[in-house]
Order: sequence, then C-alpha cells, then structure tokens
Amino acid sequence: MFKGKDPFKLLHHYLSLAKSAEIPLYEAMTLATASRSGRPSARMVLLKESRKGAVSFFTNYDSRKARELKANPRVALVFFWQKLDIQIRIEGRVKQASASESDAYWKTRPFESQISGAASKQSRALRHRDELLAAAAELRTRYGESRNVPRPKFWGGYHVVPDRFEFWLGKPNRLHERHQFSLSKSRWRYEELSP
Ligand SMILES: Cc1cc2nc3c(=O)[nH]c(=O)nc-3n(C[C@H](O)[C@H](O)[C@H](O)COP(=O)(O)O)c2cc1C
Repeated sequence: MFKGKDPFKLLHHYLSLAKSAEIPLYEAMTLATASRSGRPSARMVLLKESRKGAVSFFTNYDSRKARELKANPRVALVFFWQKLDIQIRIEGRVKQASASESDAYWKTRPFESQISGAASKQSRALRHRDELLAAAAELRTRYGESRNVPRPKFWGGYHVVPDRFEFWLGKPNRLHERHQFSLSKSRWRYEELSP
C-alpha cells in the first residue's frame, strides 16, 4: 500500500484525514532544530502550506530557531494525532521563503495577529511584560484605522524541503507499522521499519 507512493501525497492524505476528524490544531507540528555545535531544541509551529515539494511555517527571523537555522539548516518535524493513532516524521533542510510569499501570508493574518507578530522580539528576554504590551498598543494606535500592519522584515516563512518521511500507524499490541521514504539520488526509496 505504501511502496511506490509519493510521500507528499500521503502527507496530504493524512492531513485531510486529521482535518476531517476535527482534530484541534491538527496542523501543529513539533519543529526540532540544532545549533552549530549540535545542541538540539524543539517547539511547536503551525504548518501553513505543503506544496511545491516543501512544508512551510512562519516565524520571527531573529528568534532562537531562526538563529539555529542560519547556523544549521537541518530540521526535523513531527505530527502526532492520538485520535487517529498516527505519527508523521519529516526531516530535511530549510530555505527561507521569498519576501513576496511572506507578504502574501502576512496579509491573511488577522489584525491582532499582525500586531503580536510585529510587537514581539521573539525569544529575547523581556525586562517586563509591559514592554510587549506597550509595543502592541503603539502599533494598534498607529495602524488602527487601516487595520493592516506592514510586515516587518524580521518576520516571514521557511520552507522545509524534506529528504525523509516516516508514516507511523498505531496497531494492536504495539505491532505498529512504520513506512519510511528517504531521498536517494533524487528518488524516494521506500522501506518498512520494525516498530
Ligand atoms: C500550538 C502552537 C503553535 C505555535 N505556532 C507557532 C508558529 O507557527 N510560529 C512561531 O513562530 N511560533 C509558534 N508557536 C510558539 C513556538 O512554540 C515558540 O514558543 C516560539 O516560536 C519561539 O521559539 P524559539 O525561541 O525556539 O525560536 C506555537 C506554539 C504552540 C503551542
């Protein structure tokens, strides 16, 4: 059933299954990065697009994750949907999205999400939470009429270009299925792994 399949089509299939199952935040995925010296870190981000051979998310280009991605573009992503008993693992490298791609997505964000994206110096220490609230209030006053904050240069997308996928399907008595696709000489090589 998995052999010979396109892993992107499988990803889309499972994402639509998770959506139809009304899994809250089914598009949330763990993103693991590592510093140049190999120290790992992980956090959740939201999948915003998965087409043209990439899986994309948006964030702050001055954040810890972005600093790590600059030093080391390799990432791992994980989805887990308990209701479906499915885990999907993706590994690959990131490429920064173009300014026009980031602009296009930024414009779809609700006004208050634009405010928080522009006001937050993501991952930097706050002396006091009031600093953040004051920055948000200032933007709300400045752009309240147009209800549109210009995209700051420090905010935008990343495309993860996968070189490995694993589809893990929970089965009775822990005899789970693991279907791995790894890119080898521009072709997807399929293997079933032991659980
Ligand atoms: C469900 C969920 C979804 C999130 N989605 C995003 C996202 O799409 N982009 C983002 O920058 N942070 C997102 N966050 C916040 C990140 O997990 C993280 O706190 C933030 O990006 C800073 O991470 P860093 O300091 O490692 O760069 C999300 C958090 C949760 C719990």
